[in-house]
Amino acid sequence: MEVVILPTYEEMSRAAAEVVADQLNTKPNAVLGMATGSTPLGLYQELVRMHREEGLDFTQVTTFNLDEYVGLRPEHRQSYHYFMHENFFKLVNMSPGNIYIPSGTTSNYRSFCDWYERRIKECGGIDVQILGIGSDGHIAFNEPGSSLTSRTRLKTLAKSTIDDNARFFETPSDVPIYAITMGVGTILEARTLLLIASGKNKAQAVAAMIEGPVTSMTTASALQLHPSAIVFLDESAASDLKMRDYYDWVRKKKPDAPQV
Ligand code: PGA
Repeated sequence: MEVVILPTYEEMSRAAAEVVADQLNTKPNAVLGMATGSTPLGLYQELVRMHREEGLDFTQVTTFNLDEYVGLRPEHRQSYHYFMHENFFKLVNMSPGNIYIPSGTTSNYRSFCDWYERRIKECGGIDVQILGIGSDGHIAFNEPGSSLTSRTRLKTLAKSTIDDNARFFETPSDVPIYAITMGVGTILEARTLLLIASGKNKAQAVAAMIEGPVTSMTTASALQLHPSAIVFLDESAASDLKMRDYYDWVRKKKPDAPQV
């Protein structure tokens, strides 16, 4: 796992966007895994800027989102469909037929989840999966206790996640209790994982993910099992790391390493 600590949220977002842009420049028809939440907003804004000012092209790109709330229609302002269209898809030149987001309103969740898994494979698998981390250490909505081999499925959200997400809803009772989410096993099949985290309220989960044991109690710790995982942190998200000096040392020495 490569751990990169940057002074600010803006620098972290720009560095993460560079990874995505490099992927699109080498493979214009790449498959991207998309995440929602406050954290990736800066990354999406930077990709939109690159599209407008540098011609970064999304016409051949396919995207798969990690998750969606159960019960929210795509036009609901708190749905992840709405979030993605408002904050990213409508601002770049994606082909609408290449956008996949789990359905929160299907009549058959099991068959929808099976289809979603199949569709990822049929599209060639995910090249770069963008991830955030929950304060409980989740990736996507894989709450503590989720199997590290889990696939796309319906999940009951943890109380702490419902509380974290209440800020987006009018009243806490409006926050959905269930979500449809890619599994940890689904996420681990992406060729590169790109996790971003910002702020002090993520510091404990980030330390558990990087320096703790691999455990379903912190599903983000499954990144330790992945051969190509990059974690971008801002200073406050990195504040509980014990090996901080080592990560900075590795980053400083990387440009001089022999080319592999
Ligand atoms: P956040 O959510 O970016 O809104 O903090 C991250 C997550 O729960 O994965």
